[in-house]
Amino acid sequence: MTGKEVNVAIIGCGLVGSAFLKQLQAARSPVTYNLILLSSSKKSLISDDFKPLDIGSNWKETLNASGKEPLPLESLLSYLIKSPKPVILVDNTSNESISGFYPKFIDNGISIATPNKKAFSSELSLWKRIFSGKPASGLVYHEATVGAGLPIIGTLNDMINTGDQVKKVEGIFSGTLSYIFNEFSTIEPNNVLFSDVVKKAKDLGYTEPDPRDDLNGLDVARKVTILARLSGLEVESPTSFSVQSLIPKPLESVASAEEFLGKLPQYDSDLAKLKDEAAKEKKVLRFIGKVDMATKKVSVGIEKYDASHPFASLKGSDNVVSINTERYSNPMVIQGAGAGAEVTAAGVVADVLKIAERIQA
Ligand SMILES: NC(=O)c1ccc[n+]([C@@H]2O[C@H](COP(=O)([O-])OP(=O)(O)OC[C@H]3O[C@@H](n4cnc5c(N)ncnc54)[C@H](OP(=O)(O)O)[C@@H]3O)[C@@H](O)[C@H]2O)c1
Repeated sequence: MTGKEVNVAIIGCGLVGSAFLKQLQAARSPVTYNLILLSSSKKSLISDDFKPLDIGSNWKETLNASGKEPLPLESLLSYLIKSPKPVILVDNTSNESISGFYPKFIDNGISIATPNKKAFSSELSLWKRIFSGKPASGLVYHEATVGAGLPIIGTLNDMINTGDQVKKVEGIFSGTLSYIFNEFSTIEPNNVLFSDVVKKAKDLGYTEPDPRDDLNGLDVARKVTILARLSGLEVESPTSFSVQSLIPKPLESVASAEEFLGKLPQYDSDLAKLKDEAAKEKKVLRFIGKVDMATKKVSVGIEKYDASHPFASLKGSDNVVSINTERYSNPMVIQGAGAGAEVTAAGVVADVLKIAERIQA
């Protein structure tokens, strides 16, 4: 035992946040993690004297019964600065105001672990402020922002920090689009319609409430922005490069998800043609994010792959990434579940443990 203790403040206790809490309580680590703040968008529990909160297993009831609203960000910062022990702020939201505030937390020595992509995939200036590396800054770990619990960001960082040169990173980074294309375009030719698979994915709960939020490619573009920046490309934003949307133009503005799904079959022929062309070449279609360091190009869209390629044999909603570097001229391939509360929370907990090992008590 090192006797090291850190204070943990958690914002966001939805799917990932709930799993995070459970996993942190069971974490195997020589460090003691004291929960000092827990907040949803409406309620919060705050330890005024920085003694660990006793939330028990019924924390949802305790939180809902709290009379305290979440602290505004400036007040949250003032509170955390007063902590007598080092603080790790865990942002389990997808809130852009919170992520925009990271530089202030970090500048004041507060470390951050988060699955929230926003800070790392928005404007480049925010990325630069977060990773400016000023002395006494808090640490920032965000493994779960790409591929949930899959070891992608840590692996890429380790490669780069040990002097390797990234040549190309490409992969399937959306569980939803992985499922849709794995069903739609198979090695054995099939008659599956794109619109039918989208409906099935929605019925199975794999899509956002409006599937257009998956089909527009923006979530993949955000992940690829992060990978490109880690690899050394100064990508301005997730809309500054080519992103293929799978939403037919006339359906971009229809009012509801139901209307969109009702009209989608009218546009099946375009993708069916592409799939048939690929099948004639013994290839399948996959929705890919790609960073090519030789051409300095970043792209998101449909690509064709030979039946023997690892992307062609993907199953279910798995993610996969292929990392080609000077050392790994035969690319390193990392594959597995790339979404889901448990695996995502595991990525965040692992980040918290790494931060705790590194920060001074
Ligand atoms: N779920 C996955 O498989 C997965 C995978 C990879 C990454 N992620 C990322 O993980 C994050 C969380 O995802 P999730 O699935 O857990 O989402 P979720 O179930 O919607 O939970 C989000 C939580 O954030 C809270 N919240 C939102 N704004 C807040 C604010 N201003 N102050 C305090 N709390 C606030 C919400 O509070 P209320 O309950 O009051 O609304 C809710 O508890 C997101 O950034 C997501 O992109 C998720």
